[in-house]
Amino acid sequence: MAKKIYKSLPDMSKARNRVDAPLLRREDVVVPPLFASFAKGRKYWISTFGCQANVRDEEIMAGFLSIAGMERASEESSADLVIINTCAVRENAEEKVYGEIGKFKANHLKDKNFILAVCGCMMQEENIAKALMERYPFVNLIFGTHNVPDLLSLLEEHLEKKKDIVEVLSFPGSIVENLPSTRLDDYKAFVNITYGCDKFCTYCIVPYTRGRERSRKKEDILAECRELVEQGYQEITLLGQNVNSYGKDFKDGTNFASILEDVANLGIPRLRFMTSHPWDFSDDMLDVIATHPNIMKCIHLPVQSGSNDVLRRMGRRYTREEYLNLVRKIRLKMPSCAITTDIIVGFPNETEEQFEDTLTLCEEVGYDAAFTFIYSPRKGTPAAKMVDDVSSSAKHERFDRLIKVIEKSVIGHAEQMVGETYAVLVDGPSKKDPGMLSGYTESSKLVHFRGPKQLRGHIVPVRIVESHTFSMIGELVEDPWISLAKDVAKDLLQEDAAKRFFATKKAMEDDPEVARLRDAIQEEQRALALAMKDGDDLAYAHHKKAYEQNKRAYEEHPLVRNLAASSEELKQELLSVVGELS
Ligand code: 5AD
Ligand code: SF4
Repeated sequence: MAKKIYKSLPDMSKARNRVDAPLLRREDVVVPPLFASFAKGRKYWISTFGCQANVRDEEIMAGFLSIAGMERASEESSADLVIINTCAVRENAEEKVYGEIGKFKANHLKDKNFILAVCGCMMQEENIAKALMERYPFVNLIFGTHNVPDLLSLLEEHLEKKKDIVEVLSFPGSIVENLPSTRLDDYKAFVNITYGCDKFCTYCIVPYTRGRERSRKKEDILAECRELVEQGYQEITLLGQNVNSYGKDFKDGTNFASILEDVANLGIPRLRFMTSHPWDFSDDMLDVIATHPNIMKCIHLPVQSGSNDVLRRMGRRYTREEYLNLVRKIRLKMPSCAITTDIIVGFPNETEEQFEDTLTLCEEVGYDAAFTFIYSPRKGTPAAKMVDDVSSSAKHERFDRLIKVIEKSVIGHAEQMVGETYAVLVDGPSKKDPGMLSGYTESSKLVHFRGPKQLRGHIVPVRIVESHTFSMIGELVEDPWISLAKDVAKDLLQEDAAKRFFATKKAMEDDPEVARLRDAIQEEQRALALAMKDGDDLAYAHHKKAYEQNKRAYEEHPLVRNLAASSEELKQELLSVVGELS
């Protein structure tokens, strides 16, 4: 009997389909029985490659597994279930995946119940899943980007049928809400606003692996962001292959500028978004970014090439002149806005002159950072069929020249920062030197500085003292404990206990009866002091009685009693926050 069940394999022609409307599903998580008993006391590990969309998928899969009762393993070797979440955007990302799968070859020998699953964009490519199952017979489950929400039922099917399962759906894609999530970070969060891509740039596999461009409903996005704000998150990044397209599928005028503004108004300290396509970057978006201080002035604007001919063959929908005009508009409105980009070198038949157009464009823009890639043909995309007369060595040589030009502007920006003070969101101890902290500025510059680990997740002012190409050295400009105390006070004021305390205090101040009793108490105190000075025992006894009566009436007044209760509640809240700091 066959050990494997191929339920469905990807089909790129179906993946190209943009006709069917996306389905909206809202589902409660049901943990199927066999997987529930597998999950008990067991641990999972998810190894993610590629972009933030994959990171967010990892968080959703982790959410399902934790509801089922599993815990994240502290290291891959101790996991009972491993999921490898793959990327297909370039060939080198795929090569890394093969190495990763190979690492788990012997796990079934140690534990026959071990489960190895492979998912993500690479599985959506034709011929990959089947070849992978044959080359790596120890893989138990393969699924694609569209069946992440079905993770638990796929695992159940594997356990129930005792077979290895392959199910990769190829369709325009749906939107599933109510998804569980175990976030990887507790103060920086990704929130999907659109899925898929309809741009079909000729080199890119994403429109096939992630389906049609589809937007989440505004209410669902706002509810997710509101919850993050309430949980104390400091930074939200709105995610989409092309966030500018948000809402176009609703055909009711909804657009990215309006959702960006609505999220900014929720009060998250830092708001970012990625990625924006230069083609449909609207003036409204610029206005919203410029007017909201909590929207970070840092725009990722992939140019891909500086040559009009290459841009046309890439299907990018803008010219070099239009791109530079957009950069000028951004700088005019927000002179200190950081601009970053993606560039592909060695697109089929790129000439030396066309490559030089990319170099001059980079010099003109002066990017703050750039992700540079050598073109990698992706099977099934139009560019992969183009004849290519550029040699691999020429592509590498151009790549090196491009990096030098990019480095020049990156270093230029970094040097200008020395001596200035920037707000830094602290990530925690630096990966390179655990004795230092690290964090990012508004413009996404990495800064290392000394400070207590309790600053993690706080935004603090840091003066830059030294610049390196890809990071800076800084020093705190404020006593870190003062920064923390300010944040604690700010947080505390947001708590219900604090709101109740101040509301009761105000009601008490405005109440005429409370005021009368307070005045009467003071009056009797003054009279008592006078009677004592005069040695008038009779008057003393009279005023003492009146004083005690008024004092009792004051203390028993409902508003005064409420204030005492809410002050106790606030004290407990304060102690718990201070406890977290120590
Ligand atoms: N080859 C090289 N780079 C690519 N990218 C996308 N597809 C390819 C490809 N086939 C790059 C683009 C994109 C980034 C996410 O990856 O620059 O903006
Ligand atoms: Fe790929 Fe172009 Fe879509 Fe970006 S906009 S995901 S490069 S097709």
